[in-house]
Amino acid sequence: MKNFARKAFIGGNWKSNNTLADSKNIVSWLNKTTFDTQKVEVLVAPPSLHIPAVLGELTQKNIHVSAQNISAYGFGAYTGEISYKHLQDFKVGWTLLGHSERRALFHETSRDVAAKTKLALDNKIKVVLCIGEKLEEREADKTFSVVEEQLGAVLSSVKDAAQWKELVIAYEPVWAIGTGKVASPQQAQDVHAFIRKWLANNLSKQLADETRVIYGGSVSEKNCKELIGQGDIDGFLIGGAALKPAFAEIIQIVNEARK
Ligand code: PGA
Repeated sequence: MKNFARKAFIGGNWKSNNTLADSKNIVSWLNKTTFDTQKVEVLVAPPSLHIPAVLGELTQKNIHVSAQNISAYGFGAYTGEISYKHLQDFKVGWTLLGHSERRALFHETSRDVAAKTKLALDNKIKVVLCIGEKLEEREADKTFSVVEEQLGAVLSSVKDAAQWKELVIAYEPVWAIGTGKVASPQQAQDVHAFIRKWLANNLSKQLADETRVIYGGSVSEKNCKELIGQGDIDGFLIGGAALKPAFAEIIQIVNEARK
């Protein structure tokens, strides 16, 4: 049974794309995008250098602006890093963490991701926590154990259930990210249901019922309707399609599905 008490959540991850003009162009059509805020929550994560411009030009104030990552530290001698304190200064209340590109290309371990998650939550920054298995792990039947390890690391750092309420969990099978190869609705649903069971077993049934678990990996305006129809899929984290008006279409489709 679909739990409509959970507000749908749609995130757009712009990754390291876009000129400033490109980002402003996306904002221009986001400004025209409407949705029922009682039913749908929307977030965009621009490249951090574009965040002030996006905040300045976004008149659709129901869309959250997020970072794509934070450093593991506060202010200090950490060349090249952006701290949660910078986000606070710009009133940015969200960050993505643990994206598979951060894990694979920048060698962030589950422990690193867990420590950053704790740091963000302790400092009132909400988190879209990304988890998911690689192709070889799926093929070796290790999907559930990978997801369990990634969540378990966060639980070792974030022990307070109240803090888990500020998390959205994005299940993103690595083999589906940017490949055009979307997980089947059933494949995604199976892992989402597993994550919800894990939350119930390790935190509480109430938290499991309330936490949004969203799917990411080649989501488009064409495949989102069937995915959102699955009982445990509460929304999406979108890469490629978030740079195009397809993102607004996906918001509309999810909004409709919630009526
Ligand atoms: P994609 O990216 O939609 O381009 O597959 C998803 C993501 O990386 O979050």
